[in-house]
Amino acid sequence: MKIQVGASDVRDAFRRLGVTAGDIVLFHGSLSSMGYVLGGVTSVFDGILEATSPGGTVAMPSLWYDGSEERRDSAKFDVNSSPSYIGALSEGMRLDPRCCRSNHFSHAVSAIGSRAAELCADHASGASRPSPWSDQAFGHGSPWQKLYDWDSWYCFIGVTMRVCTMKHFIEGELVARTLAHSQNPTEARNLLNQNCTQAPYGWPYFNSERLQKTLQESGHFITTTLGSATLGGIRTRTLVDQAIRIIEENPLEWLGTKFIEWQNSVTT
Ligand SMILES: CC(C)(COP(=O)(O)OP(=O)(O)OC[C@H]1O[C@@H](n2cnc3c(N)ncnc32)[C@H](O)[C@@H]1OP(=O)(O)O)[C@@H](O)C(=O)NCCC(=O)NCCS
Repeated sequence: MKIQVGASDVRDAFRRLGVTAGDIVLFHGSLSSMGYVLGGVTSVFDGILEATSPGGTVAMPSLWYDGSEERRDSAKFDVNSSPSYIGALSEGMRLDPRCCRSNHFSHAVSAIGSRAAELCADHASGASRPSPWSDQAFGHGSPWQKLYDWDSWYCFIGVTMRVCTMKHFIEGELVARTLAHSQNPTEARNLLNQNCTQAPYGWPYFNSERLQKTLQESGHFITTTLGSATLGGIRTRTLVDQAIRIIEENPLEWLGTKFIEWQNSVTT
């Protein structure tokens, strides 16, 4: 017999985490992990909006590019009709009549609530930040930057940080910091792009489940239960700042040797 979960259970779980009025909450999630959700995906969004009321916002990644050949062409992405491939909650949010969605083929964000329109506006504006998809995906005008600037909550319902999209923002920041210390950033970036396409990959991918464990041990990542699921959360600034500190303190433990070789070659 599955546990039944309603919007008030969602609200109470997020409040136990520390979410409060006016907060912005981005989450990744598995619908079935909670048990049986009365009212379906809408109850999850409404519960988070209740926890953040008044003035709150709930957001999710709304990713269309799934790595397939067919979706490699960004011109085929239509912000109004291209589905999100990352589960019932994300696709349910996209289809909710209250929802706004940012316009980016690979790393769009969707949101409902007070700051939804502001969060999703002008994804490709502002200065760039390196990423293997496009330098605007996690750029300075993107929702990912706003989640950092606004110190939103970054949460996981029944899934781990393995699916954490913000890890690519962190990777981009690690690259940007190296380029800032390089004598010739254009040449250094070209070299990295070549590295990215040949295994072993030169991009600074790191094990985000291991990072979750480290952040849990330090008390930065906290958990509670939501029905039969574990609900985990951390503030976005804490996630990004701690991750960069932890990785930069011990790069050999976290990053591939090819990336470290690239760092050394372009900064010496
Ligand atoms: C892959 C993933 C979505 C699978 O989770 P899931 O719970 O099996 O699937 P969904 O969230 O899509 O929900 C659909 C499931 O909920 C069930 N469901 C439908 N209505 C429901 C309700 N009211 N209450 C509970 N479950 C319900 C469906 O039957 C389906 O289960 P089934 O596949 O066993 O039939 C999840 O593990 C995950 O990784 N989510 C995060 C993805 C992400 O953010 N990725 C970012 C880039 S890596």
